[in-house]
Amino acid sequence: MTEQQRERSAVEADLLERARRRLPGGVLGTARYADEAAFVVKSGKGARIHDMSGRAYVDYVLASGPLILGHAHPAVVAAVREQVEGGTTYFMVNEPIIQLAEEICRAMPCAEQVRFTSTGSEATFFALRVARTYRKRDKVLKFEGGYHGAHDYAMMSSSPRSPKAFPAAVPDSSGIPHAIEAEVLVAPYNDLGTVEGIVAAHADELAAVIVEPFQRLVPPQPGFLQGLREITRRHGILLVFDEVVTGFRLAYGGAQQYYGVVPDIAAVGKIVGGGFPLAAVCASEELMRPFDPRQDGVADFISQSGTLNGNPIAAVAGLATLAELRRPGAYETLHGTGRRLMAGIAELAAKAGLAAQVVGEPVVFDLLFTDEPIVDYRSLQRADGALGRALTTGLIARGVVKNGQKMYVSLAHGEAEVADTLQAFEDTLKTLPKSKGRR
Ligand SMILES: Cc1ncc(COP(=O)(O)O)c(C=O)c1O
Repeated sequence: MTEQQRERSAVEADLLERARRRLPGGVLGTARYADEAAFVVKSGKGARIHDMSGRAYVDYVLASGPLILGHAHPAVVAAVREQVEGGTTYFMVNEPIIQLAEEICRAMPCAEQVRFTSTGSEATFFALRVARTYRKRDKVLKFEGGYHGAHDYAMMSSSPRSPKAFPAAVPDSSGIPHAIEAEVLVAPYNDLGTVEGIVAAHADELAAVIVEPFQRLVPPQPGFLQGLREITRRHGILLVFDEVVTGFRLAYGGAQQYYGVVPDIAAVGKIVGGGFPLAAVCASEELMRPFDPRQDGVADFISQSGTLNGNPIAAVAGLATLAELRRPGAYETLHGTGRRLMAGIAELAAKAGLAAQVVGEPVVFDLLFTDEPIVDYRSLQRADGALGRALTTGLIARGVVKNGQKMYVSLAHGEAEVADTLQAFEDTLKTLPKSKGRR
């Protein structure tokens, strides 16, 4: 595939200018493409999106992960259409949300009850509140490079520019009260020895260890999650899996099923809302009891409310998505597509003579420009970021869009998308500037 020849249309150029005027950075969050690659999405169908200039892209952003069936899947569209006719939100218990709670409990080994939220950030935030309530301790341990959303406790050492010695936390954002830094301890992912030492030294202060079981792109080394389970259990500290990315993706039962380690509490999001704002905290009845409003004034009570909690449109979209994922062979297909892409991209990078490797699991991965083993945040940081950005920009020019450091695969990605993607990689890799990443 050659660079998309078509120029940015006047309409799209105008929209980009208006976005720049009214949205900080012209964008919606921390993700921002190079100016020359910027575009405005018009529509999405299956594995592809179209921009306002009529250019098509094979989409590996997939709305940052929820769209495991691809865009506008007919089953999701039909379910949403039907629900919209009956009202869009109630702030009251409704049948779809009860069914979704039941389905989460059927799928997730750690789940007996569910509290819904609108975002994954809220889900991890309240998961930590559950742990603090149960343990009567305040501190939490998280991993360097782990991302649990945008709240103050999560925005610690998720992407530190100048990491401190463990377990000191580095805030990722301005505007976070300094007092929070002391409430978060940080450990290196995949390093059980360091975790063990920090937990032993702070066991009396810790409520929870929170971890992305598959951290960004980095799979857990054999025994790491089992070790976390053992250490936390030994000290009576709660283990929280942030399954916002991994839930219903690595397997139907998430990382808990895929890696065979059951946490005390899980936060789920993205896929479970079928492309609508919905996430959830789930755990045993015992841990979840404090959410019960009848506990107010009686015992430990966790105050948690949200205008869109239990939104029925998100619930039917989530249920329709999960029903597709329960079809026989769905995960084999998904992993098969991912494996083909991973192998193909790795081969093309090798052919181009680049010091690079494909890192991740078949459902979420990326090409990183380093040949060092990737086991944690610091090794991930040693990959050549400039080459990574040039790859992302070059792929967009050739009709493939991905996050800065992540490619999500969907069931809508078929042979044609795999072929187009590999062609775009081949053409882009050839053009990358020489750098320390070159052999
Ligand atoms: C692992 C993980 N946890 C939590 C979140 C936060 O979810 P949300 O963006 O819905 O607040 C994200 C978002 O990307 C995530 O990847």
